[in-house]
Amino acid sequence: MTKFMNRRALVTGANSGLGQAMATALAEAGATVALHYRRNQEAVDTLAAALRNFGHTVHVIQGDLSTTAGTRQVAAAAVAALEQVDILINNAGDWVDKPLLETSDAEWERLIDVDLRAPYLLTRLLAPGMVERRWGRIINISSIASLGYVPGEGLYGISKAGINAMTHAFGVELAPHGVTVNAVAPGWTLPAAQPFPNPTDYPQCHDVPNLRPGHASEVAAFVRFLVSDVAGHITGQVLPIDGGLSVTLPKGR
Ligand SMILES: NC(=O)c1ccc[n+]([C@@H]2O[C@H](COP(=O)([O-])OP(=O)(O)OC[C@H]3O[C@@H](n4cnc5c(N)ncnc54)[C@H](O)[C@@H]3O)[C@@H](O)[C@H]2O)c1
Repeated sequence: MTKFMNRRALVTGANSGLGQAMATALAEAGATVALHYRRNQEAVDTLAAALRNFGHTVHVIQGDLSTTAGTRQVAAAAVAALEQVDILINNAGDWVDKPLLETSDAEWERLIDVDLRAPYLLTRLLAPGMVERRWGRIINISSIASLGYVPGEGLYGISKAGINAMTHAFGVELAPHGVTVNAVAPGWTLPAAQPFPNPTDYPQCHDVPNLRPGHASEVAAFVRFLVSDVAGHITGQVLPIDGGLSVTLPKGR
């Protein structure tokens, strides 16, 4: 698998869950990584220390992605720390779990701001440098909730469907410049700290074709491939990583 010795990556929401796993995978592959976090400095400091102990170069960036100003500040801090951003992982995201008629204006704004505007703005701000250098990789973390109806995840699905459209459009517009843009759409996925799931422990996954949730290590390995040189011909795609569940949508789960 390609090593990323000279690549510099920003991972948003790197203090937990999928972000932590993807940041770790990129650092292990040799990339210099900026770990973005909003809250829980202890978690991100612990991760940074662990990665540095293994000889990896990491930076830590704090910022709130729910505002335009906060998002611009994160982009500027990433460029200041890394000098250039070659790989952007738009991972940070918020969530609402309720029927659409019960959602509020504030929830709409929060989901659209964090899950859609921030990835859009970070791409707009950081892609020009990639275009100039004629190499770049952008990964957007979508969800199977964007591919069909998932109970309670209507608003979340709307924001992630926007991510998918953004992935198609940026993917096409940046393709001539050596920059790929792809989204991965996970189903329910366990954080790296949890053991790899055994189907017998997850009876609630009876309608997932492979009968289990995903694991953050699987998303991280796939993303590591997508940002490598060998994946340069894959762009504009929304790629489910869900044990086959999206194939069964929109019948529900
Ligand atoms: N774990 C799953 O089952 C699953 C499934 C599909 C998609 N996803 C997507 O994966 C991504 C990571 O989720 P996760 O499961 O690791 O959850 P998580 O809660 O561990 O990670 C979410 C991250 O987003 C950050 N974040 C939230 N609001 C923010 C804000 N206003 N400003 C800056 N950062 C903010 C959080 O601090 C956190 O680091 C999200 O985009 C989520 O929608 C997760």
